[in-house]
Amino acid sequence: MSPNLETTYLGLKLRSPVITGASPLTQTVDSAKRLEDAGVGAIVLHSLFEEQVVQEQRMLHAATDWHEDTFGEAASFFPKFEEYRFSPDLYLEHIGNLKRSLSVPVIASLNGRTPGPWVDFASEVERAGADALELNVYFVVSDPADTPEIVERRIEGIVARARERVKIPVSVKLSTFHSALPQLGRRLESAGASGLVLFNRFYQSDFDLDAMTVTPRVRFSSSTELLTRLRWLSILSSTGRADLACSGGVHTANDLIKAILAGASVAQVVSALYKRGPEAVSSMLEGLRLWMTERGYADIDSMRGALNLARCPDASAHERAHYIRNLSSVDHWAGQRL
Ligand SMILES: Cc1cc2nc3c(=O)[nH]c(=O)nc-3n(C[C@H](O)[C@H](O)[C@H](O)COP(=O)(O)O)c2cc1C
Repeated sequence: MSPNLETTYLGLKLRSPVITGASPLTQTVDSAKRLEDAGVGAIVLHSLFEEQVVQEQRMLHAATDWHEDTFGEAASFFPKFEEYRFSPDLYLEHIGNLKRSLSVPVIASLNGRTPGPWVDFASEVERAGADALELNVYFVVSDPADTPEIVERRIEGIVARARERVKIPVSVKLSTFHSALPQLGRRLESAGASGLVLFNRFYQSDFDLDAMTVTPRVRFSSSTELLTRLRWLSILSSTGRADLACSGGVHTANDLIKAILAGASVAQVVSALYKRGPEAVSSMLEGLRLWMTERGYADIDSMRGALNLARCPDASAHERAHYIRNLSSVDHWAGQRL
């Protein structure tokens, strides 16, 4: 019998554990439908930004060169980056259009940095029909006066404010740069988060040595970025209650399988779709199905977290012991060349 790929994320029953991550990939009904046809379990819309909601015209992404690694044929499936601008009204209209056209859940995304009035837009998003809300709390801590406690309280405040406004489930997309993630995870659960998305992928600034300027760029990910996610999924799935989404570095069926074994309920995929188009989803699901059949897993629930911190046969692999062992093995390898 074919294994059951259904999963539960944020209390929503999804037909598969691959979902599209926040991006312009679903900015048209047509592209969203293609992804639904390829088998995604849900879609996360591109973000509506705090700056847009508070009527400031400056778009965070406007200064970013998104084109860099776009792959010709696959890119033609999806809206162009320059079209990636929706007013708050259009955003709500788009949610309604998608809800009427798709059968998979639609997760809206609000993206900001302060616990301010933009968070109240959550109730509009709910009214428009979104099944859940993802909050992307995106900022770079550059002020020395900002302590970890201040930063974490700010995120908690954003979640609590959204929670007061809506009944739909709320998830939080986190940055990798927190010093005590398990504790933060618990605090966000208490503030009302049903899910955590690991992780935000910051665009990185590079230096242009000819122009002597700083150039922000977004590069698509590769599977190597999955490793940070695997570690923290493994830890948080053992220490918290929130549903976990893996975001970053999922490109192949094996990446998807690893994310689930680490404890993810779903994998959010963006770069793989830009590189390969909707086929990336179907091939990941096919590979997952094959692997589950070979290993005798009947459903996702029974494999989720099988290699996490609590259940992995050698839990120290996630912690310090292997750090020392791995460094010694590199020494040995390097020593042979010198
Ligand atoms: C073109 C592009 C646009 C994106 N837009 C958003 C966005 O609006 N909101 C957001 O939270 N993340 C956004 N992201 C980040 C993705 O949702 C995701 O977290 C990141 O790309 C890592 O996943 P991947 O390795 O599958 O690409 C964007 C990424 C790309 C490449």
